[in-house]
Order: sequence, then structure tokens, then C-alpha cells
Amino acid sequence: MYKIAVLPGDGIGVEIVPEAVKVLKAIAVKFGHQFEFREAPVGGAAYDITGHPLPPETLKLCQESDAVLLGAIGGPKYDNLPVHLRPEIGALLPLRKELALYANLRPCILFPGLLKASTLKEEVISGVDIMVVRELTGGLYFGEKYRENTPDGGQKATDILSYSTYEIERIARFAFEAARKRRKNLCSVDKANVIETSRLWRETVTKLGQEYPDVLLSHMYVDNCSMQLIRNPKQFDVIVTENMFGDILTDEASMLTGSIGMLPSASIGGKVSLYEPSHGSAPDIAGQKKANPLATILSAAMMLRYSFNLEEEALLIEEAVRQVMADGYRTPDLMEAGCTLVNTVEMGDKVVEMIMR
Ligand code: IPM
Ligand code: MG
Repeated sequence: MYKIAVLPGDGIGVEIVPEAVKVLKAIAVKFGHQFEFREAPVGGAAYDITGHPLPPETLKLCQESDAVLLGAIGGPKYDNLPVHLRPEIGALLPLRKELALYANLRPCILFPGLLKASTLKEEVISGVDIMVVRELTGGLYFGEKYRENTPDGGQKATDILSYSTYEIERIARFAFEAARKRRKNLCSVDKANVIETSRLWRETVTKLGQEYPDVLLSHMYVDNCSMQLIRNPKQFDVIVTENMFGDILTDEASMLTGSIGMLPSASIGGKVSLYEPSHGSAPDIAGQKKANPLATILSAAMMLRYSFNLEEEALLIEEAVRQVMADGYRTPDLMEAGCTLVNTVEMGDKVVEMIMR
């Protein structure tokens, strides 16, 4: 029996999460597993009900579960709340911190059926298979933030960026281990020509590299990396980088897979791991059944793999998604000539059908 905390959140979160739950239920039937789903509010939805985006009951439910499935949080309605009540800073970041999820895995894989969906040239992206390992509980997003008034009547805002050897070493170790299980190629991304934390990052990763002589380690500046990802993405196997660089580079890398609606993620490091699509709550299309549920469904596959060690089941979900893509079913974000347009629910149904065949 696996206990799964289900946190749909805001915007399209409430549309895509039920599709992933549906897929997990199909897996349970097919393989004879028992999944217990317990739902709780988070983000703006939780603020509306309780006055706080991360109610203690929601956090407690997560801590008492075997894994967490999250949709997305935030929306224009909450953008002007005091900073500590905003869904991002009041809920998502504390949730990651409380659950000690320092490693965020974002696999950027191009499903062959989606070769034409990307805005990039086919020969550049065909065969792309990159694992980005993003540090998730340190750096700028968690540093002290403040404002002060300046004598000229303006203001000065400050965000502290700091990383310790310990934080760098544990995420780097995670990435070296991941590379070891793949093509043994690790690219560490930093801005060591300018930033002090990046210099410590590079020194620490380099030193740790001595323990992994079988992994080919390289270093790249983040600005160059953002260019190389578009120029020649196939040079990358595993990328490891700090929190903000990873946030930015993974949105960019999602375009290698055709749509950000295809990019799942796993956040790991503590007792309970969290699985969520890499995209946001997309308020512009919320409530219209237009959202692509596949990133969430693929995140559920990662849950089976990393939290429950159910590799065969995870592979079956991924294979089902591949097949549904190959059969030409598309949500609007991926739609192209000759394909069949489906809505969020229909896409979930297609994946379930494929699993139950
Ligand atoms: C992501 C998102 C979040 C982040 C936001 C919503 C705080 O962009 O998971 O990539 O920056 O980590
Ligand atoms: Mg992001």
C-alpha cells in the first residue's frame, strides 16, 4: 500500500492532476498495487480557504505520505499578496525546504512523435536525452531578501546568494551518480568568471570529480550553456547546476521536447519525494480543458520509479505516452497538421487505454 498526497493547487493544476491519478489507478489495477490518494489544498486554493498558501495540515499530510503529487500553484489573483503569502514563496519553496528536496531532476527527452512540434530543427533535436539536476533548496531563492529606502527617495532591494561546500557537494554527488547510470558525461554549469558562489561551486565539483574517474566532467558558463542547448543539445548527458540557473535552463530545455507541457520533474533528497510538472499554473488556459497533462503523467511515472522502485510500471507509462504521441493525439500546445486534437481528459483517457491494452 502506497500513500500518495495529491496537491492539485491552482490554475490548470486541478485539471492535469486528476489525469495523472487516473493513470496511477490504471497501473494499480493492471499490476495489483494499492495506492491510497489523499488530497489537500496548496497555493492560492489553500489561501482562499485557510488564509495561508501552505496550511500545516497540508504539510503534515505530505510528511506522512510515501510521495507527493503536485499540480501547479499561483495565479494573477495572488500576485499582489504580501510576499510571505504568495503561493511561490509561501507554499512551494517552503514545501521543498521542509521536505528537504535538494535535488530536482528534469529529464528532457524528445519523444520521436514530437519531432515536428518543436520550434527547433529536427536534425538538432532528434535523439535529445538530457537529465538536468537542479539544486533546489539553496541559492538566491532561499537567501535573505530585503528592501531599504535610499536618500534620493528611491529604494534598494537585496537578495543574498550563498552556497556552502556541503550543499554543493551533495547535489554534485547526486549528479555524478546519475551520470554513472547514463552516458557518464557530466556538465557542471556556473558563472565562475563573475560570481563567488560559482567559484566555490566549480572548485567543489572538480574536487569531487576525483572520486568519479569514470565520469567525464566538464564545466560551462551558464550564458554559454543557454546557447549550446539550442545550438547542439546532443552534446549533453547530465547537467548539474544551482537553483536559479536550473530554473531558467530547464524552461529553455523544455523546448527541445516540443512543449513545456512534456517536461516532468522529481524533487528528491528527503524521506518523502515530490513529483510535479516543470511548468506553471497557466492561468491563461485554465478551466478550458486545453492543458497538456503529459508532464504530470510522466511525473507520476517518475514517482513509481524513484519513490516506489516500480521500474516496469514507470516504463509502461512512458511507453504509453510515446505510443499516444506516435498515434498522433495532441493537446493544443503540440497540435500540428495531420494530428488529432484532444482535450486534457481525452489525453488522459488515451494514455489509460494504452496502458490497459
Ligand atoms: C519551477 C517554477 C518555480 C521555481 C516557481 C513557481 C517558484 O518556476 O518549478 O521551475 O522557480 O522553482
Ligand atoms: Mg521554473
